[in-house]
Amino acid sequence: MSHDISNLRKFVAPEMIFGAGARKSVANYAKTFGARKVLLVSDPGVEAAGWVEDVSSTLREEGIDHVTFTQVSPNPRSHEVMAGVDFYREHGCNIIVAVGGGSPMDCAKGIGIVSANGRHILDYEGVDQIRAPIPPLIFIPTTAGTSADVSQFAIINDEAERVKISIVSKAVVPDVALVDPDTTQTMDPFLRACTGLDALVHAIEAFVSTASGPMTDMFALDAIRLINGNLEQLAANPADPKLREQIMLGSMKAGLAFSNAILGAVHAMSHSLGGFLDLPHGLCNSILLEHVISYNYSAATDRFKIIAETMGLDTRGLNATEVKARLLARVVELKQNIGLYQKLAEIGVRTADIPTLSAKAIKDPCLLTNPRKSNRRDVEVVYEEAL
Ligand SMILES: [Fe+2]
Repeated sequence: MSHDISNLRKFVAPEMIFGAGARKSVANYAKTFGARKVLLVSDPGVEAAGWVEDVSSTLREEGIDHVTFTQVSPNPRSHEVMAGVDFYREHGCNIIVAVGGGSPMDCAKGIGIVSANGRHILDYEGVDQIRAPIPPLIFIPTTAGTSADVSQFAIINDEAERVKISIVSKAVVPDVALVDPDTTQTMDPFLRACTGLDALVHAIEAFVSTASGPMTDMFALDAIRLINGNLEQLAANPADPKLREQIMLGSMKAGLAFSNAILGAVHAMSHSLGGFLDLPHGLCNSILLEHVISYNYSAATDRFKIIAETMGLDTRGLNATEVKARLLARVVELKQNIGLYQKLAEIGVRTADIPTLSAKAIKDPCLLTNPRKSNRRDVEVVYEEAL
């Protein structure tokens, strides 16, 4: 009997602890991994919010020696990764703990890759380029969105070329994700909206991805249901612990889905925007979302109908054009209810930038799993619509 290997699906995930207080087990895990000295990676915003000291005190109480590296900007640069590697080596570290959003987590992955493999971080661009196993990674996310804590992606900014590179490898799936909804208390409303919308995009892109499968579908649909059903309520009641827990859970499930099913044109185009113009990732995704759904719709009509139904829309008796219109209206409504109504022009994108942005986006690996095949001109049109 012959088998079509293009139908095979693998599923990779870290060990995950979910729930309020999960971050407190950081010291136990560090000990289990034989911590001699821990490198704690974070950024200035997370430090100001108190989470670096929170994790540091837990490590201190258990007598675990550690040093802190916080020189990480949003859209982490390759030179920051390399500076982190020098710091890691100078201090003789053997374990990496990251606390923060996508930027410190991706930077921590980069530090792990280079400390074990030796070359420059930008040499590891692409799929499965990492040979030597990297040091144990224990991640504590403080946003409910990026899911670098469960994913096999690291996105690093090549500041010289003004492009984001994607590193995709099982080697960068953290060993442990301590997913603690307590940490999202300190997000400001804009960050909460951007990261929550990023999580919704992860789930939608994973569900319509050409690499989706039964395991990723299950997590993607549950994530869509959780985010669609709780994100607007959370915007109105940001202190509600139950709502924060539901969104954190939705984000984690979306992360498990996209880490394994990969993404699509929203992320390919958003990586290009983030690398070229240094714009916030979640905001770029938010602006592009309905335009990419509209572009992709005809290539995944049945799947988008399931998404519409999962978002609570009644599709009975409607044809595909009507379902599409209803889904697009709901996406725009959700965005507006959490304060995301920007267009690309308002955040500094000019018509003259679009050819460059499109040229970079079509090289992004996320475009390979987009349900509709796209060339440079297709991508330009979608950018123009989002302008
Ligand atoms: Fe994302």
